[in-house]
Amino acid sequence: MKNKIAVHMRPGRHRSYDILIKAGGLKTLPSIIRKKWPGRRIFLVTDTNVSRLYAKNLQHAFDDVGIDSALFEVPAGEETKSIDIYYALIGALLESGIKRNSLVIALGGGVVGDLAGFAAATVLRGVEFIQVPTSLLAQVDSSVGGKVGIDHDAGKNLIGAFHQPSFVLIDPTVLRTLPVMEFRNGLAEVVKIAAALDADFFRFLERNTSRITRTNARFLARVICRAVSLKAAVVEKDERESGLRKSLNLGHTIGHAIEATSDFTMKHGEAVSIGLVAESQLAVAAGLLAVDDYLRLSRLLVQCNLPAKVPSGINEKRFFRSLSVDKKNTGSEPSFVLLRRIGVSLIGVRLPLPRIQALLR
Ligand code: GLY
Repeated sequence: MKNKIAVHMRPGRHRSYDILIKAGGLKTLPSIIRKKWPGRRIFLVTDTNVSRLYAKNLQHAFDDVGIDSALFEVPAGEETKSIDIYYALIGALLESGIKRNSLVIALGGGVVGDLAGFAAATVLRGVEFIQVPTSLLAQVDSSVGGKVGIDHDAGKNLIGAFHQPSFVLIDPTVLRTLPVMEFRNGLAEVVKIAAALDADFFRFLERNTSRITRTNARFLARVICRAVSLKAAVVEKDERESGLRKSLNLGHTIGHAIEATSDFTMKHGEAVSIGLVAESQLAVAAGLLAVDDYLRLSRLLVQCNLPAKVPSGINEKRFFRSLSVDKKNTGSEPSFVLLRRIGVSLIGVRLPLPRIQALLR
């Protein structure tokens, strides 16, 4: 199985990068860095959970091969993507002597990747960074494609940049220590990518749901490789989300609004799962999607132990307010990605609010 994906960014070869998906790959990172980035000082950013599990050992491994590194720990959790923690992290990087030729490594889940990537994008007007994602969600989605950022009181990810990593190392063995809930969170994004872009991959997932477990690293490597290849191909064509990349927002218009309405007590993947089902219902109602495809999608999500129903008693006013501030909107009506069939999606579909209200009720 091919386990290296080359992402060809335009313009300029200097922005292209490799994604390596390898069980046990974390152990090989020091030698990769010594070979590809010799003499560079490492600024390793992680969270308190991942630090205990992997970052301290990784720092020792850097020491062993003579790589100079400094470790920066941020609290675990979405609250860490705040302006205060970002500012403190920039301060700590500067105080430790970060230079334009330093290398930031983001070792952690999506929160660490987004925050450390945004710090790398902005400190000294930008330094190189490497993504070493440790959650399934970060491995299949957020570590690839260069979206980095932090949250604002007005919404998630409203402050950010496109800053492509110089390398992504994905080691599925680290998922062994991931809480089950977090694992499911990532599965929702895997299903999304397959549903939006690749009917064969979707069928593969349908046939193999029971083999996709946290401990089956070899099988996970196959699944992650396929999901990441699909995402990388989209990012190569449309880095700035002016067209095709929007298809990766399948399930996310309703998903984000549900997540925000729950005050982010609901996991992103659970909200996306509900969003995928609800948006497919809208697609069926609009005459775009066959009922059979809708049923296949909801069945696969349920098989992955993900929720499929909009929570009862959802605060409608807040839900519609969240829909209207979605950063993906360009006009006054919410913009959707809707499925045409499994593996094929339509972007920029505007739907009248009464139709969405009817669905919610
Ligand atoms: N998570 C969707 C994207 O990276 O475009």
